Amino acid sequence: MMSNHSVNIPNLSQTYGQDEFFSRRCIWVNGPVIVGAGPSGLAVGACLKSQGVPFIILERANCIASLWQNRTYDRLKLHLPKQFCQLPDFPFPTDFPEYPSKYQFITYLESYAKHFDIAPHFNETVQSAKYDQTFGLWRVKTVSKISSIPVEIEYICRWLVVATGENAEKVVPEFEGLEQFKGHVSHACDYKSGQMYAGKRVLVVGCGNSGMEVSLDLCNHNARPSMVVRNSVHVLPREVFGKSTFELTMLMMRWLPLWLVDKILLILARLILGNIEKFGLKRPSTGPLELKNTAGKTPVLDIGALEKIRTGQIKIVPGIQRFSKGRVELVNGEILDVDSVILATGYRSNVPSWLKENDFFSKDGIPKNRFPNGWKGNAGLYAVGFTRRGISGASLDAISVAHDIARSWKEETRQKKKTVAARHRRCISHF
Ligand SMILES: Cc1cc2nc3c(=O)[nH]c(=O)nc-3n(C[C@H](O)[C@H](O)[C@H](O)COP(=O)(O)OP(=O)(O)OC[C@H]3O[C@@H](n4cnc5c(N)ncnc54)[C@H](O)[C@@H]3O)c2cc1C
Ligand SMILES: NC(=O)c1ccc[n+]([C@@H]2O[C@H](COP(=O)([O-])OP(=O)(O)OC[C@H]3O[C@@H](n4cnc5c(N)ncnc54)[C@H](OP(=O)(O)O)[C@@H]3O)[C@@H](O)[C@H]2O)c1
Repeated sequence: MMSNHSVNIPNLSQTYGQDEFFSRRCIWVNGPVIVGAGPSGLAVGACLKSQGVPFIILERANCIASLWQNRTYDRLKLHLPKQFCQLPDFPFPTDFPEYPSKYQFITYLESYAKHFDIAPHFNETVQSAKYDQTFGLWRVKTVSKISSIPVEIEYICRWLVVATGENAEKVVPEFEGLEQFKGHVSHACDYKSGQMYAGKRVLVVGCGNSGMEVSLDLCNHNARPSMVVRNSVHVLPREVFGKSTFELTMLMMRWLPLWLVDKILLILARLILGNIEKFGLKRPSTGPLELKNTAGKTPVLDIGALEKIRTGQIKIVPGIQRFSKGRVELVNGEILDVDSVILATGYRSNVPSWLKENDFFSKDGIPKNRFPNGWKGNAGLYAVGFTRRGISGASLDAISVAHDIARSWKEETRQKKKTVAARHRRCISHF
């Protein structure tokens, strides 16, 4: 199916020392290059397969869905019912629970890749991707770490699909004095369970879904968490009268304006969760859906942390002023003795670090055009999974992207076969 051609470039051992030595190759891809083998990359790959379009997927990790396999905690479950987390053309097994665990979700993704016969190139990190105006082609440079000698590869293709995710890198803010703290400091992406924290005083920085769930897990392992809430946060119940809040929201959005749905959600949250402001969880003045749309901030869906906050097992504290040895000073002047710090301070896209273009993506690495118009750029550039709508948004993107590429691939391979082959030959001989 894949008619890609590989050309070995003469090695550089004569001019470079052993450490800098790179073996180099150049590969023409007859179809799109997809960067990232998470749910988004797999979904677009599957949709392309169904249309008979060849492609390759480049993945920096050694497995599919590396975020789920390597950078999430043990107790993680999908927060949304399974029907909203399915990838195109492959439903979850009927015996999966309504909220599958991360292990079930990984099993599902592995079956998905197997079913559609998707075999990403693992351990290959995309270092740069640049559109070559002269040839009308993308040049995607990677470093592969499969062997002990890093191999530099350049892929040349007509279409580039960015599927590296909104959560590609951890956000680690700078805090005054943190280097003097001396206790254990980690990010939520490295947290697995609260077992090693039993009996410890742990400062959890951040109150998003990660901060809340890590704090809950710490309580369940007899640790003593204090959670930093520097600003405000929307907490909603995961379910309203037995129905998922997400599903209910989707239903209401069909008939009602967003501001009204926001008001209804806040009334329901108040009825079910009570007044959370008295526990130090100030609500933003903007409603949860509007805040999600304007600032990309996801509301927290409560799965038990609130009860621990209510009973004082999770202590809510304000923002951080500075750290010192074994201590943290808060903005209200309070000083806490802490053993460990977990930064649940979120994630960011890494697109600006490797994609050399600045029309389609903002400086934050998210397409400038909002959902549902953020999947197609110029010159064969596409994005999947940047809608801030989780896996359901990624699936919608994948269908649109695959459809568009398939149409143009079929046109170009039929009509311009000779031209492209000629460009390809010129391009290879360029090295
Ligand atoms: C803790 C946590 C829980 C979540 N739970 C849910 C949930 O329940 N429901 C939901 O809908 N969403 C959830 N999300 C959001 C979640 O990130 C996405 O829904 C989903 O993983 C997005 O898939 P993706 O393929 O777009 O990105 P990712 O899953 O992040 O996959 C991107 C892939 O690209 C690879 N990559 C990155 N840079 C490069 C590079 N330069 N070269 C090569 N490869 C690269 C990465 O290694 C990664 O494998 C959660 C996020 C987190 C952090
Ligand atoms: N089961 C699930 O479905 C599940 C579980 C976990 C995560 N997720 C998803 O994963 C994504 C990431 O979630 P996340 O919770 O990791 O990140 P997040 O939603 O971006 O939250 C980051 C938190 O860190 C705080 N923060 C950042 N810098 C800070 C600083 N210097 N001092 C104090 N606080 C600081 C933020 O506060 P401010 O708001 O003031 O900036 C915010 O509370 C979200 O889409 C989330 O829904 C899903």
